[in-house]
Amino acid sequence: MRCLSRFFTSRNIGNIVKFIEPSVTLTIRSTPSFTSFFCRKFTDSGTNMDLSNMRKSYKSDQECFEEDQLTSLDPIKQFGSWFDQATKCPEVGEANAMCLATATKDGRPSARMVLLKGYSEEGFRFFSNYESRKGAELDCNPHACLVFYWEPLNRQIRIEGTVERIPYEISCDYFHSRPKSSQIGAVVSRQSTVIPSRQYLRDKNAELEEKYKDTNVPLPDYWGGYIVKPHLIEFWQGQTNRLHDRIVFLRPKEEETELGDMQHQAEGGWIYQRLSP
Ligand SMILES: Cc1cc2nc3c(=O)[nH]c(=O)nc-3n(C[C@H](O)[C@H](O)[C@H](O)COP(=O)(O)O)c2cc1C
Repeated sequence: MRCLSRFFTSRNIGNIVKFIEPSVTLTIRSTPSFTSFFCRKFTDSGTNMDLSNMRKSYKSDQECFEEDQLTSLDPIKQFGSWFDQATKCPEVGEANAMCLATATKDGRPSARMVLLKGYSEEGFRFFSNYESRKGAELDCNPHACLVFYWEPLNRQIRIEGTVERIPYEISCDYFHSRPKSSQIGAVVSRQSTVIPSRQYLRDKNAELEEKYKDTNVPLPDYWGGYIVKPHLIEFWQGQTNRLHDRIVFLRPKEEETELGDMQHQAEGGWIYQRLSP
């Protein structure tokens, strides 16, 4: 035990604490110097982790993101430029994965990942189940926020806007462009509803595979696309010294005809400004 307590100095505890089994920690808690550190780091159940030392370096000041580095003053084109770089970056696993936040009518938020399936000057498109939790929230509160985070590039993009369903024909075309197994999967899953077991899904899947063996899978009326029509797009790039860059494009309201202090004219009816990190 003495040997063990010498090993657990406060310097190396930080590196190993996350690998310690709860049963081992109960034994070594008898060492007073360790106890105070340990109590901060870990409860008996091993679920109260102090992660205050977890941090990564981002970019240096020489690699900052300044206004003259904007590829375009049209934020959709600027999005395209960063998105292309993310798709070409081998360390970014799924560049089109984004967090979609929605909220109930009374403002209770929920968030989940979805895949961006297209973008244009009109907005950002994704597909889902219209009867899912997000679908229900969007029905009564058609506002959403999208967040992309490309960790190897130290870049985040936040998009806020109103949400609409896309036309049926476009959803239909996309649905039938997917592999047949994905089409059947979409029909099988009444997304976000409670089911008895995984076997229930397997059985339903097998039933539908048989049913549509020789025919097209019809697009279910509970599945389709959405478009987020943006009124805010923020480009964030991380700096090691935490003086991060934040350039925000906004679509001013109709009555807001004059540029505010420190606001600049962009393209396509957008303005932009820099925010403190
Ligand atoms: C990387 C990733 C991509 C996903 N893409 C989609 C998607 O495009 N559409 C979708 O409905 N769910 C997608 N999901 C599943 C959702 O995160 C979520 O579990 C599901 O849509 C149900 O969400 P809800 O109950 O909040 O409506 C994805 C999950 C991950 C992790």
